[in-house]
Amino acid sequence: MEGKTVIVTGAGGGMGQAIVQKLIDEGATVGGIDLKEEAMEGLNHDRFTAFAADILDEEAIAGVFRDMNEKTGRIDGLVGAAGIAQAAAPITDVSLEQWHRLININATSLFITSREAARYMKPAGKGSIITIGSVSVTRPRPGLQAYIASKGAAESFTRGLAIELAEAGVRVNTIHPGPADTGMLSQFTAEGADSEEARREIFESSVPLGRLIQPDDIAGGVLYLLSDDASMVTGTTLHIDGGRGL
Ligand SMILES: NC(=O)c1ccc[n+]([C@@H]2O[C@H](COP(=O)([O-])OP(=O)(O)OC[C@H]3O[C@@H](n4cnc5c(N)ncnc54)[C@H](O)[C@@H]3O)[C@@H](O)[C@H]2O)c1
Repeated sequence: MEGKTVIVTGAGGGMGQAIVQKLIDEGATVGGIDLKEEAMEGLNHDRFTAFAADILDEEAIAGVFRDMNEKTGRIDGLVGAAGIAQAAAPITDVSLEQWHRLININATSLFITSREAARYMKPAGKGSIITIGSVSVTRPRPGLQAYIASKGAAESFTRGLAIELAEAGVRVNTIHPGPADTGMLSQFTAEGADSEEARREIFESSVPLGRLIQPDDIAGGVLYLLSDDASMVTGTTLHIDGGRGL
């Protein structure tokens, strides 16, 4: 990754931090986006720049790409790891506002950030965009209908963009993580439920390989998809879920 510039959204989150750290360790220069700068405080490095921005703010996102391009002269990768969970609830209890919020933050954000990435990658004739979906697209749980729809959109957007950008040499892939050991996991349980119990009984026990996915497992997949080892891989979905999708 030496000499490459990568932008990571949700950089202050469980997966985002592990992804940024791995990319820095591998020699990349990284721009991280999250709502608050404090969330990215632990990622101190001279090849890391933190940007506090909402991923739905088109102008702020354009500014991040401009800034990183001015600094390094290139944009090689985009990793869309920002996202929000849905507390499990029957559809009759879900408001239209909640639906829009999930679709916007988890899916529309990918349109905004990938469009910006394409503006730099297409003229360069190369680049790698990675979106983060979810195993719930292939193995849904009840009560997560809006979240699952947003992640299904992430996957189909990825395939649509992969075929569009292939002639420009830009690759676009998605990763479907299984239940992962981050702050988000407990937010999928119904309001008032015991999240510690759910974590063990529902999530951990549902993974055939016997443990929760760790942020580093996801970072390893990201590194592969960004690297030249994946130079013929586009439009694919990499399942990092310990077999949960089987
Ligand atoms: N944790 C899991 O079990 C799991 C499973 C499958 C998929 N995922 C997906 O993986 C990705 C990373 O999740 P995580 O587990 O690291 O969760 P996390 O909550 O630890 O991190 C998500 C980050 O996104 C940021 N974010 C949210 N809305 C934002 C906005 N509008 N603008 C900028 N930043 C924003 C949050 O501040 C947070 O730091 C998400 O897309 C999530 O849906 C998670």
